[in-house]
Amino acid sequence: MRILVTDPIDDAGLETLREAGHAVVTDYGIEGGPALVDALEGVHGLIVRSGTEVTRQVLDGADELVIVGRAGIGVDNIDIDAATEHGVIVANAPEGNVRAAAEHTVAMAFAAARSIPQAHTRLKAGDWAKSDFLGTEVNNKTLGIVGLGRVGQEVAKRLNNLGMDLVAYDPYISEDRADQIGADLVEFEECIEQADFLTVHTPLTPETEDLISHDELAKLDGGYLINCARGGVVDEAALAEAVENGTLKGAALDVFAEEPISPENPLLDVEDVIVTPHLGASTEAAQENVATSTAEQVLAAFNEEPVLNA
Ligand code: MLT
Repeated sequence: MRILVTDPIDDAGLETLREAGHAVVTDYGIEGGPALVDALEGVHGLIVRSGTEVTRQVLDGADELVIVGRAGIGVDNIDIDAATEHGVIVANAPEGNVRAAAEHTVAMAFAAARSIPQAHTRLKAGDWAKSDFLGTEVNNKTLGIVGLGRVGQEVAKRLNNLGMDLVAYDPYISEDRADQIGADLVEFEECIEQADFLTVHTPLTPETEDLISHDELAKLDGGYLINCARGGVVDEAALAEAVENGTLKGAALDVFAEEPISPENPLLDVEDVIVTPHLGASTEAAQENVATSTAEQVLAAFNEEPVLNA
């Protein structure tokens, strides 16, 4: 079988596929749309991360495609309806990068609370700006978690151990499960109102698009917003305004509505918005995990065995 990989994945995944006797081509520079349709001629398996848009147009033109493997959690860059209509399996790797994403979220919370990137930049420029930075401790503060799934739960455990109280909004989780994690399950508005730090861990769906906008940011008055999930969940213009005008103390973002982020994005001009380029899953362990798991799913599909996470 022929497999095309259009976003960088760990060699472990490529080796797994090659050792099984398949022809694997990596091409990380393909423009989406028609160029991807051309590249998919005669291809049976496509492996992507978040950088490749697998649209209806792409799937309409990919006659021999059996499976799209997503080496990561989110499948919002794949048109699932079109894939289903074409009988193309879509499989993700929902476990392998959970810890990495949770650790990055915690790192971003601290980076925002203590202005680490801003202080770093000033010091590197020769400015010992000790008196310009007065941080916030997370101890005894409330963490609001929107989305208590795999990553949300891991973030909850870590920040609870660091002295934070937990409130969570998640319509899909039971009170018992939230209790086990030590989180009070509350309504969406209450979650935001109680939070000193609000962290978002939802997929991007029509229901969650711009879930956090002007009204919600006003309710988070004096707090911090952390988003290491999906960019479109937070209204970026509203967030830039809320941090700029002091409604929020700061925000830390790993994900953006448009990636790579445009240099014109207003968020980049706001001092107390800190940013990383979608690095949540970028650890050696996580990348090896998701690449191997995705490769195994592709092999299962080729062998007509059950595909997990499809
Ligand atoms: C994910 O959905 O797991 C992340 O977006 C991973 C990635 O960086 O591809």
